Amino acid sequence: MSPKPIRKAVFPVAGLGTRFLPATKVVPKELLPVVDRPLIQYAVDEAREAGIEQMIFVTGRGKTGIVEHFDIAFELEHTMNDRGKDLSALDPTRATPGDIISVRQQVPLGLGHAIWCARAIVGDEPFAIFLPDELMVAKEGGTGCMKQMVEAYEKVGGNLISVLEVPMEQVSSYGVIDPGQSHGALTEVRGLVEKPPVAEAPSNKIVSGRYILQPEVMRVLENQGKGAGGEIQLTDAMAKMIGTQPFHAVTFDGNRYDCGSKVGFVEATLAIALSRPDMAAEVRAIALDLLK
Ligand code: G1P
Repeated sequence: MSPKPIRKAVFPVAGLGTRFLPATKVVPKELLPVVDRPLIQYAVDEAREAGIEQMIFVTGRGKTGIVEHFDIAFELEHTMNDRGKDLSALDPTRATPGDIISVRQQVPLGLGHAIWCARAIVGDEPFAIFLPDELMVAKEGGTGCMKQMVEAYEKVGGNLISVLEVPMEQVSSYGVIDPGQSHGALTEVRGLVEKPPVAEAPSNKIVSGRYILQPEVMRVLENQGKGAGGEIQLTDAMAKMIGTQPFHAVTFDGNRYDCGSKVGFVEATLAIALSRPDMAAEVRAIALDLLK
C-alpha cells in the first residue's frame, strides 16, 4: 500500500531576521529577493513541483507581507492590464483560492513550537516542512529537493529529512544525524541531535531544512521541553520518533545555499543570476571584471 500523499506544507516564517538588519526592519527576511524572486517564492515553487497543494505559513508580527505576496494585487494587475503589460511574472504568486493559510506563532519559542502552532491545520496527515532560508536549487533538467524526497517517501513511507555534508567544524550550527545504512541517496537515521559540540557530533551530515513528517510529531511536540539554545527543538521531537516509525535521510542531488547568512545569500544571488539565460553573460562579464 502506498503511503498517504503529502498535500500540506508548513513554512515557519515568524523569525525576526536580525542577521539581515536593517534590511529586515520592515521587510520580512523571506521577502528579500534572490535576483527577482523572494526567498519564500522559491520554497513555495519547490513545494508545488512536489505536488503539494496547501501552504501553511506560521507567521508573526510584521510578517503578514508573506501572505500578501500570494494574494491577487488587484490595483497592480488592473493598471498593468490597462497599459498592455505582461503579467506573467505574477503567475507563481497566484494561489488556488483557499490554499494559502496562515497561523500565528505569538512567542518565538523555537522551531518545534512554530511547527506545533500549525497542528490544527495539518490535522491527521503526513506533511512537509520547508525552512525558506535553505534555498535548494535543482540541477539543470533535474528535480527539486522536495520532489526527490516525495519520491523516496512513496517507497519507504514514514519520516524523511533532507541532509547534506558540511565540514566538521560547522556541525554545531545545525541538526546532525547519526547515520545507519545507506542505499544510494537514502540513509537510515539512527539518531538526531540539535547543534552538538563538534567533538560530540555523530557525523557531518546535517539536517538541511526539508522534512516529511508523520502527524504524530505534533503529539510529541506538545510535551517537548526546551533543548539547544533554550528553544523547543523540532530535532528533539523527531529524535523521539526514531524506532517507532521509519526514519530516513535523503541527500539532495542539487545545490543548496544557506540564505540564513549574508555570504550564503550573496552566493545564491550570484549562482542564480549565472544560471539565468536572460542575464548570465552580462553578470559573468561583470563578475570577472570585478575580480581583476
Ligand atoms: C534549524 C534546525 C536545524 C537545521 C537548520 C537548517 O536551525 O533546528 O536542525 O539543521 O535549521 O538550516 P536554525 O537555523 O533555525 O538554528
